Amino acid sequence: MTVRAAMARDGFATLGRLFPGPLVRKMARDVRRRHDSGELRARALVRDVAGRYAAVVPFEGPFLDPRFYGNARLHAALGSVLGRDYCIGSLETVIAEPGAYRQHLHIDGPIRFAPYRGDLSRLPPYAATLYVPLCDVTEENGPTALWAGSHKTALLPRPPGDAAIRRRFREVRMAGRLGEAFLFDYRIFHRGMPNHTREPRPILALVFTRSWYRDPNIAEVSHGVQIGARALAKVPERLRRLFMLAPAARRTVWR
Ligand SMILES: [Fe+2]
Repeated sequence: MTVRAAMARDGFATLGRLFPGPLVRKMARDVRRRHDSGELRARALVRDVAGRYAAVVPFEGPFLDPRFYGNARLHAALGSVLGRDYCIGSLETVIAEPGAYRQHLHIDGPIRFAPYRGDLSRLPPYAATLYVPLCDVTEENGPTALWAGSHKTALLPRPPGDAAIRRRFREVRMAGRLGEAFLFDYRIFHRGMPNHTREPRPILALVFTRSWYRDPNIAEVSHGVQIGARALAKVPERLRRLFMLAPAARRTVWR
């Protein structure tokens, strides 16, 4: 099945190993170092996290490698799902600490046009997350559970409750080895599962959005795409538009 068909039917698709192993291991080491030093936690986003936290990761070091953000297979898939006009919404890590418990069921990016009462559930995807395990994710250390097909219900005038989602849709666990990537629709119902181990469980979430969409998940921080001006100049020109939401890519009108 194509990525586009899987995303339409299930709201997620398995992409497998998109990136060279040494690059993924470098990204994992970088995130682990920033976690151990406490700098990520100090920059954590405000969420209902149940023992896990999310933080914006800067495009530096291995993350500035075009084999990561410019991966050809990834962009072929994204183009089929989000059309031609999309950009990076954020680069985040989500770290489930030892003892992290089951998260509440949620979708990542709702859109609500209150008081519009029509049916928005047939909208094509407006945002998708590339989810890359930065360690081997198992049943033990906090996989993400998602409900296949539930993305079609999130924008109904009256979205279903937790019990209806669990009853009507098939639960799938996103467990996978280091670097084995998934793509999922922002509207899919999901939750983080407990981490029963003594090690933190880091994953990487590279969010892509249609250019008009603004992610409510990062509404309380200044930006979700952190890249310095010099780093941005190193991005190949054909890929620079991906970074349009970074402050370094935007014209300053007042100082
Ligand atoms: Fe989530």
